[in-house]
Amino acid sequence: MEIFDRLESEVRSYCRSWPAVFNEARGSYIYDESGRPYLDFFAGAGSLNYGHNNPELKAELLDYLIGDSVVHSLDAYSVAKRDFLQTFGDVVLGPRGLDYKVQFPGPAGNNAVEAALKLARKYTGRETVISFTNGFHGMTLGALAVTGNSMKRGGAGVPLSHAATMPFDNYMDGKTPDFLWLRSLLEDSGSGLDAPAAVIVETVQGEGGINVASAEWLRGLSALCKEYDILLIVDDIQMGCGRTGPFFSFEHAGIEPDIVTLSKSISGYGIPLALTLFKRELDVWDPGEHNGTFRGPNPAFVTGTAALNTFWRDDALQQQTLAKGELIEARLTALAEELADAGAHVRGRGMARGIAFTQEGAAKQVSRGAFERGLLLETSGPEDEVAKLLPPLTATEEELEQGLEIIAEAARDAVKIPQPA
Ligand SMILES: Cc1ncc(COP(=O)(O)O)c(C=O)c1O
Repeated sequence: MEIFDRLESEVRSYCRSWPAVFNEARGSYIYDESGRPYLDFFAGAGSLNYGHNNPELKAELLDYLIGDSVVHSLDAYSVAKRDFLQTFGDVVLGPRGLDYKVQFPGPAGNNAVEAALKLARKYTGRETVISFTNGFHGMTLGALAVTGNSMKRGGAGVPLSHAATMPFDNYMDGKTPDFLWLRSLLEDSGSGLDAPAAVIVETVQGEGGINVASAEWLRGLSALCKEYDILLIVDDIQMGCGRTGPFFSFEHAGIEPDIVTLSKSISGYGIPLALTLFKRELDVWDPGEHNGTFRGPNPAFVTGTAALNTFWRDDALQQQTLAKGELIEARLTALAEELADAGAHVRGRGMARGIAFTQEGAAKQVSRGAFERGLLLETSGPEDEVAKLLPPLTATEEELEQGLEIIAEAARDAVKIPQPA
């Protein structure tokens, strides 16, 4: 471990929760260099929906590499990109009646968000973007300006501007009608809110604490955007690619966002790839206006195409995800009832679930205890008050039961630790 301490920046973070050196990974398991297995309920923060080194995807990738096929090509046309676009159109967009164009904005989620924000501003000629309390959209300055977390915002070093925060669904504990504040500001020419270019929203806030927006709230937001001619951006970077069941996390609400961001599991293999999707009429970019070196990662196109072919040509994965999500919810609900004194309660949709605690430090302690017992489990929320479960969608029921049992043991131990004075 010495080299990490000596050479790697203090900014490193996940490794502090999981002091192991990982080497191999297969399916729902990751192994440290001594061969100790860890059940992975973190799944690359949602980048490994199909597990580690999925064999179907790996076979396609290996064939591609062995054949000396082109790996890097900026945004030149390549066979791998053509296959990906064709498959994405046939398997994802076509069946859902979505007439989106596809932009490859750079490899990470934040690149997709930056492109979405820039395009919305260019198209509308307006500057302000509405975001929501506890939203998370990435670490680059534009994305950070629409992110809630004060610690992350503090790292910017410059004012984060051209954004306005509104209450997310249930932020006011159900006491205030939805969108009361936003609608009042939009209606009042004296409110001080400049006409917004766009609204950016997650349907389930992953980093913000597994806060779920109801389908009704999402429909209300979409209708409000239409009424005031504001573009609706759904950031599906963490909740897309099947995490909540359907391919896009907004499908159950029956809304059609103007712009959608995808990354994390879109390559299916943990290889960086991001997409910004937008309605055809929004494609007002000039050639090269949003550029970048890593916008044609062909190995990611190959695994991304294989993932769509393997998992999205029928609805089997979606049905399994919904069923497994219910299993997780049932186990967590029973645990939360048992630990009601620690203020435990359950949140989530599909296979994005969380158990939140009002007892300070409990969720962190659950994550620590889980690691000691061989399970990777992240925390989320502004105070790290939620133990967050993002198992691979391909995890077996047995693996889920095993992981949930570890969480239950770790949680029972965690709540015994007295609260700090
Ligand atoms: C909803 C959402 N948007 C954007 C991002 C940023 O993605 P990246 O870390 O790849 O830049 C994340 C990352 O967790 C995310 O969850």
